[in-house]
Parts: sequence; structure tokens; C-alpha cells
Amino acid sequence: MTALPGWERSPAFVFDATRCALSVLDQAHLPFEQRYLQPGSVADCVRVIREMNVRGAPLIGLVAAAGMAFAARADASDAALAAAAALLIASRPTAVNLRWAVEDLQAVLRAAPLAARAEAAAARVLALQRSESACCARIAEHGLGILRALADTPRVRERGVLNVLTHCNAGWLATGAWGTALAPVYRAAAAGIAVHVWVDETRPRNQGARLTAWELGEGGIAHSIVADNCAGHLMQRGLVDVCIVGSDRTTRAGDVCNKIGTYQKALAAADNGVPFYVALPCSTIDWTIADGVREIEIEERDASEVLQIEGAGADGVLRSVRHAPLASRAANFAFDVTPARLVTGLICEHGVFAANAAALAPLRAVAGAAP
Ligand code: MRU
Repeated sequence: MTALPGWERSPAFVFDATRCALSVLDQAHLPFEQRYLQPGSVADCVRVIREMNVRGAPLIGLVAAAGMAFAARADASDAALAAAAALLIASRPTAVNLRWAVEDLQAVLRAAPLAARAEAAAARVLALQRSESACCARIAEHGLGILRALADTPRVRERGVLNVLTHCNAGWLATGAWGTALAPVYRAAAAGIAVHVWVDETRPRNQGARLTAWELGEGGIAHSIVADNCAGHLMQRGLVDVCIVGSDRTTRAGDVCNKIGTYQKALAAADNGVPFYVALPCSTIDWTIADGVREIEIEERDASEVLQIEGAGADGVLRSVRHAPLASRAANFAFDVTPARLVTGLICEHGVFAANAAALAPLRAVAGAAP
């Protein structure tokens, strides 16, 4: 499986609207095995989202939308759809795309006659993926402008390669198409810019080491995995030209909620004068809130994810081992909030915007519209 910039749909999410059938790449087994799952009901979609077989804000939005299509096929009444929507929205609390996609499906279905709802829902899932694909393509173009300018600085010209640092996974495994944070990287590589990515391992689930590194490798992009606490060191030595991360929820004032550890990268970037960009579709902006630290619910996951580490032995079989004292407890916060003042710019399908309420306000009218 090779990630090519020409892709319009990610192989992580394959939806057949005619049969109303879904196939998703099981990310819990990557990079060791490529398995596909076929969720076929609301309960299946809730399970694959909660267990993180699928993850990444835009992708879980699409899977939740497919869940609404399965609900409409089983019982298209308003009551049944409302019950399905509540289950899907509760499956993970932090990423806003999930609620956005479910509410989008609900609005489309409410407007359709009962007998036509199942078909309308399936068509809408595909339309959402198409629109997301267009967003990824635009994010790639806008991000390319930034990377091109950086590639032309004396430091990068002398080194001969542009160093991008990313956290977590915000590529085609996390979206319906090329990705958000990684889309500009794929686009820059396709444009002939020599690019290398520092990949934070992203404890405790290791989305960087397991998913981003695999995805970049499949796409032929040079990369190095670094321990989560290495970024400040790299930046002090001038080895990071730009940080680009994704977002699970961004407030109307530009605060960015993303995978735990993102805030620390932003602090290190600010201290070292490294530009810190966030790439996101407008569906990730939560217009109902301004203060991300106070208002965003941060998902807390099972302590075992921190107390244990999972990997594969030489036989390729996944195993977990405990690496902490048996008596120790752990806290497992899955996301954090980077205040807008630390964000150089938000790269979305409509351009590059300053992270503040005044700059973002015009996007409210076009959010949800195709780019
Ligand atoms: O817990 P996850 O793996 O779903 O978290 C994903 C992230 O934090 C991503 O960086 C974010 O969703 C952006 S995805 C384009």
C-alpha cells in the first residue's frame, strides 16, 4: 500500500454507497499487519471508534456518519436516528468532527421522506468524504506555500533538506483523504522539495512511531522517529524548520486541542523561534466555544495504556508488557490545549489564518461548504 499524493480517498475508509457497506483499515494492528474490519451497524461503529481501530478527528467523523447510514437502513424513524446519534457522539468526547458529521447526517435525514432516508444517508457519507478529500487537497496547496518559502531560506538551502516536526498522526490514516498536517509534506515532496520529518513517538498509543512512521515510509518520505521529549533539544540545535500538527478541536478564538504533548512542542517552538502551524479542515472548528483550556472536554483513557507498552516480537504477534511498578497507578489524558498565542497560523481549506477570533470569524460563514 503506497500513499500517493494523487489519492482522492484514503484506503483507511472505503465506503460503498450502493451496498451501504464500510471497510476500514484496523489501525490497532499497524504497522505489523494490514487487516480490514467491516463495521455494519451503529454498535460496530461505536466500538471501532472507542477502541481506536479507527482514529483521527476527521476519520472518526466519517465512521460516525457511516454509523448514521447504518441506523437509517435499520430504522429511519426520527426517534431511532436520535438514539443512534447520541450513541455515536458519546463514543469519543474530544474531537468535534464526530458531532459535526453526525449532526450533518441528522439534518440531511430530517429533510428526506422516511422511505428515501437510507439512500440519502449513504449518498451523504460519500459526499462528506469527497468534501474532505477536497479540503485535504487545498490544505496541501496552502501548506506547500509555507514549506516552499522555508525551503528557500539560507539555513535549509545549506542543509539541503527541510526538517518538519509533527506530533501524533494527521495523515491519510486519520482522514478520508491525504491528511491534514501531512498533506503539505506529501505535496512538497511531490513538488521536488527535499523534506525530512521528525516523528514524535506520541506516547502512550504511539501514533507517531506506529502510524505516522509507517504512513510516511509507504509514501517514500524520509523520516526519523524521536522520543516525545526530544523536540526541544532538536529545536535548540536548529534542526527543526517548522512544526505542523493536526487538531481535534479548535475554538473560534484559535486555541487548538490536539494529542497530548502538542502544547509542549508549541512552547518549545515559541522559545526557539520555530513556526508552529496547525492544519485542519474547518469542520474541526467548534464555533460554540472560545477558551479551549476551560471549555474542551479532555478524554481520559484507561491507565493500562500508560502502564503498559504494546509491540510485536520477531514473530510479528502483538503483545503488551508492563513497564511500570505493579503497584503504580497512572493518569492518561489523551489531549491537551495549545493556546492560540503559541500558534503561528491555521492552515485550512480556505487559506492560512492567524489564530485569533477576528481572523477566523469570516470562516464561520463558509464552514461546511465545499472549498
Ligand atoms: O487519539 P487519536 O489518535 O484519535 O488522536 C488523533 C490526533 O490527535 C490527531 O493529531 C488529530 O486528530 C488530527 S487528525 C487529522
